[in-house]
Amino acid sequence: MKSSDSIGPTLIGKRIVLGVTGSIAAYKAVALLRSLIREGAVVHVVMTHSATKFVTALTFEVLSGHPVSTDMFEAHQEMKHLSLPAQADAIIIAPATAHCLAKAALGLGDNLLSTMLLTSQCPLIMAPAMDGGMWTHPSVQEHVNTLRARGTVIVTPELGPLASGQIGQGRLAAEGRILEAVQVALAPQRDWQGHRVLVSAGPTQEPIDPVRFISNRSSGKMGYAVAEAAQARGAQVVLVTGPTALPTPRGIEVVAVATAEEMLQVLSMRLAWSTTVIMAAAVADFRPTHPASQKIKKQGQIAETLNLERTTDILASLSAQRTTQLLVGFAAETSDLIAHAQAKLTAKGLDLIVANDVTREGAGFGSDQNAATLIDRQGIMTELPLMPKRALADAILSRAHELFRARQSSQTPTTVMGGR
Ligand code: CTP
Repeated sequence: MKSSDSIGPTLIGKRIVLGVTGSIAAYKAVALLRSLIREGAVVHVVMTHSATKFVTALTFEVLSGHPVSTDMFEAHQEMKHLSLPAQADAIIIAPATAHCLAKAALGLGDNLLSTMLLTSQCPLIMAPAMDGGMWTHPSVQEHVNTLRARGTVIVTPELGPLASGQIGQGRLAAEGRILEAVQVALAPQRDWQGHRVLVSAGPTQEPIDPVRFISNRSSGKMGYAVAEAAQARGAQVVLVTGPTALPTPRGIEVVAVATAEEMLQVLSMRLAWSTTVIMAAAVADFRPTHPASQKIKKQGQIAETLNLERTTDILASLSAQRTTQLLVGFAAETSDLIAHAQAKLTAKGLDLIVANDVTREGAGFGSDQNAATLIDRQGIMTELPLMPKRALADAILSRAHELFRARQSSQTPTTVMGGR
């Protein structure tokens, strides 16, 4: 996100609730408030009682130009826990204590700020600050994962000297990082603009005879979520889908196929057009060698064995034909997730693989949620908790976009000599 120096204030008219909780870093929220106002935002500050022990409400009141709320039960007050979040474009909690993260993750509402989170619909950005040992504590990390899975943006604390005198990861993120997270959360993300994304989804069906086929349990939800997310982020998308029960996404060109062979043909034809291929389809690995042209009757010629042959590995075939396209595959596994996924990444010549354990409760085929580990060619892994498939789709696109950027920066010469 560019700074206001180059493009002017970035948050003009945005209504922001700034929550401040009881950490020694509460004083840094004063500078954050000033930056938000400088960017054009209208800011209402909500403090917890512990926060007022570190900085006075008056400081925030004077700087924000609005009364500071601390209490659910202030006399003659409207219902702030409903009215403030209802009008807000975003809620930022900076600093957020471990206690505040836990309450937000568990849905506890014991003060104005935590109750507001239960009524709010807008983006939530939390910038934790605490002692290093606390930040790495498994319970804090679990709460952070829960919040992330719900879409909360966590601006991770930084490494450095802490109030305790120790060095650790726990310092409130630099003001610029928090501000950028707010700008990103409030700006429609168009980072895939100019890209052409080919997405495959759903199962394939391999005919045994005109009425029977071999297929699998794929619902298509993951691939459709990827297609929709890419389109929302500015890409032109072609979705090549096997048979699913899902509604056709609006504004996306959809090509319906049935067999692995048809999917291969369509994807091969569109490959040159695309900048990225995301292969979420669960392609059948085998097909009947000689599908019967007439329905096989139960009486008479009962086939005791069904002869099968391998289908073409579509990704491997696209990988052999590609020029500059980024290739993203999925690995649906039931055991040895990472090892199997890494083997597929290498064998199929992929840039990124989304490894997902389809036996995990609440994840995989048919579910609206999924958990996955993203692995790139360098072996860098991003482990993502159970989250809605749309959120996972966004995480995959963000990682793929980073790979594009890394590729570009490795190609950009650092010094330009002469020339025009
Ligand atoms: N895939 C493909 N063509 C196939 C089979 C799979 O392009 N004939 C793609 C899938 O869309 C997925 C990736 O390859 O992106 C891995 O699919 P998966 O079913 O996990 O693995 P397979 O390669 O089929 O290997 P195995 O079944 O042995 O796990």
